[in-house]
Formats: sequence, structure tokens, C-alpha cells
Amino acid sequence: MKVYCVIGDQRVTMSLSPVMHNSVISELGLDSKYVAFSIEPANLENAILGIRSLGVSGVNVTVPHKETIIPFLDGLSDSASVIGAVNTIVRHGQSLIGHNTDVGGFGDLLDYHGFSPDGSDVVIIGAGGATRAVLFSFMERGYRNVAVVNRTYKKSMELTGRLGGLAIPFENVSEVLRNAGLLVNTTSVSEIVESSPFIDLFSKIGRLNKLQLVIDINYGRKTNFWASLAEKNGASFTDGLYMLAAQARRSFQLWTGEMPSLDDFLRPIGLIE
Ligand code: ATR
Repeated sequence: MKVYCVIGDQRVTMSLSPVMHNSVISELGLDSKYVAFSIEPANLENAILGIRSLGVSGVNVTVPHKETIIPFLDGLSDSASVIGAVNTIVRHGQSLIGHNTDVGGFGDLLDYHGFSPDGSDVVIIGAGGATRAVLFSFMERGYRNVAVVNRTYKKSMELTGRLGGLAIPFENVSEVLRNAGLLVNTTSVSEIVESSPFIDLFSKIGRLNKLQLVIDINYGRKTNFWASLAEKNGASFTDGLYMLAAQARRSFQLWTGEMPSLDDFLRPIGLIE
């Protein structure tokens, strides 16, 4: 039997990855199992030793290990190396190679929505670990008008210096937002809370006439500020569930060589019937 797993901190117990992968494994009749392991940062190196010695066939990596895992691997794909984050480990004999399927997963989401900028700007909110794959995906697709807005300006400067795009200071964001066709939230903040820098900012700004689509890469929030922003501006909204399924499918392909349909990953998480 082949064993695959996802490693993260205690939040990994909520991960939807096991349900998706095990459903596809059973559809294909493979003798495999996918499990979740909660690993605290101090134990990460030991966990990788365990993965090596137990012969685990493939690994997904989630928060907070996507960057800190890199020194323990034997090599990186080009995109994982450029963005400095790994969400998938593929075993080649005794070597563990890090990949990043979040980049392609986010690209699949853009394709699904058929977004075309038509002269408008893309605005990414946030400059954390999750922002990297999103920004790189836009750069790979040749988008040039990509603004990155973050509470901490220094972090958006560092990120755009490394990957491309333009860091915009928080206080100058109104102008960029007025020309935004697509807004992507990559911060961890989605719930409608009483006060946050972004909620305060958007409540002061008038209608965003060019806004076509709002993407929140989080999912499963009871109330979603980004969904309500989209609604107020007559734009479409999507959360991160589609991207989750798309990156899972790409990881599965790297491990097994099989490319099941995206529907096979969307169905177990209830996105389609
Ligand atoms: P992840 O790896 O999940 O992306 P991270 O690297 O800690 O996590 O990044 C979290 C992102 O959410 C950052 O852009 C962070 O802004 P700062 O760089 O200013 O810290 C953003 N973020 C987190 N809490 C926030 C809040 N209450 N308001 C605005 N931005 C917030």
C-alpha cells in the first residue's frame, strides 16, 4: 500500500485534503491511503526523517511549514525555488523534491472564471506566505498591472522586489482600487469583524466601477467581508475551495502520473453534486 499525507500544525485536522484524495484513490481503485499529520514547527525536521524512513510516497505541506520545510528537502522545482514555498513533496527514489501546485491551482481558478483584465488592474491584498503563489501565477501569465497592498508596506516591497508587481503603500491605495478589475485577498482576514485596516479602507471608498471579480483564497468562513464587497460592487465572488481542489489534482498528478477530472476533486468537498 502507498501512503500519502498532509503535514501542517494543529489546523491540519480541519483539512479537506484527505477527503478529496481518498475519494479519488477509491474511484481509481488504487491501493493507497492519504492521512493528515499535525506537526509542530520544532518537530518538522524529525517528521521529514520519518517520512523518508517510512517510505511515504507523497506529501502535501500546509501552514506553517511551506517555507521552513525547504532546507530539509533534496531539491526544488523551478516555481517552488523562485517563490520560496513548497506545498507538495514528490519522492524520487531516496530524494524528496519540493514543488508548488498552488501556482497552477490559482491559474486554474483564473481560467475557470475566464478573467480578462481589459486594461484594469489586478490588486492583491496581503504580502504573506500565501501571496507568493498568487503573485507568481500572475507574473507567469504575463499580467503586468499587478498591485500588492499590505498592512505592512515593507513586506509588500520585499515580495514585489523578488517576484514582480508593484507594492502600493496603504495610504495610496484608493486610486489603484478604482481601476481594479480583479481583487484577490491573500490575508488570513475574511470574516466581517468590527475593525480592520481593510474593512475601514473599503468602507470609506466609493463604488469600484471596474471591479469584475473578487477572489478570497480562504474558505469556510461564516461571514465573508470580500463576498459582501463583491456584492456591493456588482462583481462576482469566489472563495478558495476551487483552488484547493485544483492544487490537489495537480499534486495527485505529480505523485501518480494520473490526471483525474477536476470534478472528482470538487465533488467530495461539495462544490458540485
Ligand atoms: P500566510 O503564510 O498564511 O500567508 P502570513 O505569512 O503570516 O500567513 O501572512 C498573513 C498576511 O495577512 C499578511 O499579509 C498580514 O499582514 P502583515 O504583513 O501586515 O502582518 C495579513 N494580516 C494578518 N492579519 C491581518 C489584519 N488583522 N489586518 C490586515 N492584514 C492582516
